[in-house]
Amino acid sequence: MPHIWLPYAQMKISGDPLPVVATRGSRIVLADGRELIDGIASWWTACHGYNHPHIAAAVRHQLDVMPHVMFGGLAHEPALTLARRLAALMPAGLDRVFFSDSGSVAVEVAMKMAVQYWGNKGLAGRTRFVAFNGGYHGDTTGAMAVSDPVDGMHHAFGGLLPRHLFCDLPRDEESFANLSDVIECHAGEIAGIIVEPLVQGAGGMQFHDVDVLERLRALADRHRILLIFDEIFTGFGRTGAMFASAAVAPDIVTLSKALTGGTLPLAATIARRAVFDAFWSDAPSHALMHGPTYMANPLACAAANASLDLFECEPRLSEVAAIAAALQQRLAPCRGMPRVRDVRVRGAIGAVEVDRIDNIYTLRRRFVAEGVFVRPFGTTVYLTPAFTIAPEELATLTDAVVTVVSEMK
Ligand SMILES: Cc1ncc(COP(=O)(O)O)c(C=O)c1O
Repeated sequence: MPHIWLPYAQMKISGDPLPVVATRGSRIVLADGRELIDGIASWWTACHGYNHPHIAAAVRHQLDVMPHVMFGGLAHEPALTLARRLAALMPAGLDRVFFSDSGSVAVEVAMKMAVQYWGNKGLAGRTRFVAFNGGYHGDTTGAMAVSDPVDGMHHAFGGLLPRHLFCDLPRDEESFANLSDVIECHAGEIAGIIVEPLVQGAGGMQFHDVDVLERLRALADRHRILLIFDEIFTGFGRTGAMFASAAVAPDIVTLSKALTGGTLPLAATIARRAVFDAFWSDAPSHALMHGPTYMANPLACAAANASLDLFECEPRLSEVAAIAAALQQRLAPCRGMPRVRDVRVRGAIGAVEVDRIDNIYTLRRRFVAEGVFVRPFGTTVYLTPAFTIAPEELATLTDAVVTVVSEMK
């Protein structure tokens, strides 16, 4: 493969990627005819399984009508319908939807909204964010700068990134007091707090409870700063509820990944009306200065509308509950294995944390030999399957995890 540059891979030692020729349901079909059961649903996007006929039909129809038109000065029904439906799923008041084309860009937009919100209100010095150790918000510069400064990519790009304020999530009184102090000290410089609610995903599938979000809401209110929930991973049922924002309402939410059911790239940044109101003025300079070329792509919006149909008419959240129960039961044998530090499950997320992984590429190949596609990172072996996965396919995945983890010496 002389022309391809792969993501997150030391290509000299990673080996070639697996040649894939088709997908269906929870299966990945390889060029040599092998079928792998997919344990991660293409980075958590394909929540209805691959090639769902309802989404495929919606995209095919939209392709004939209008595959794309720019969103500057023009608007179209698939985007307007999607915006209305997303607003209806959000807590009351979060009802302005800005579309973009990837999760990282949705985070950039949320950060720009927060900074410009304060600028439009005459407080231009509020340009920093409170972010959390273990967090991950994307690979673009702004998003990297609010991702974990130790385990993230800061060491390679330190000189490039603005310095934000990193704290531990307020899981107990001590971390809460520390976070309060940091916010107190820097209140005049802070635009907002950004957090992945309930699950820090790419940072290692670390969970926290709703009370952490309640504390963040209280601090944001007390210091009059904005609270941003990055629901790019948690959104659309992954944790068992449709959105974490249903439990505690933020000021801005970012969505992507499962938004189109894993079919096409699309993201949304959804703001509270009060945030939008700060941009509504007679001054052209108060407009939000962002506009991705493919924003609100009609094909992607059609896919997202079809995906929302499926959440309405198929039992996705009960499927997630069944997956959670199966993961709890079937990953339990990993507890007590010599190299295992923790086994945890939330919704359709199962994680086995080990003390170290010596060669990540060998480990990934070992899973392929078991007939599954599982892609551990850091010290975490995790499963985030499609919600539609068949019980016997899920059993194959969990059996593979138990077998491979038991072999770690
Ligand atoms: C919570 C969170 N935010 C942002 C992103 C970045 O999304 P994208 O890869 O679409 O840019 C990710 C991707 O894993 C994510 O999990």
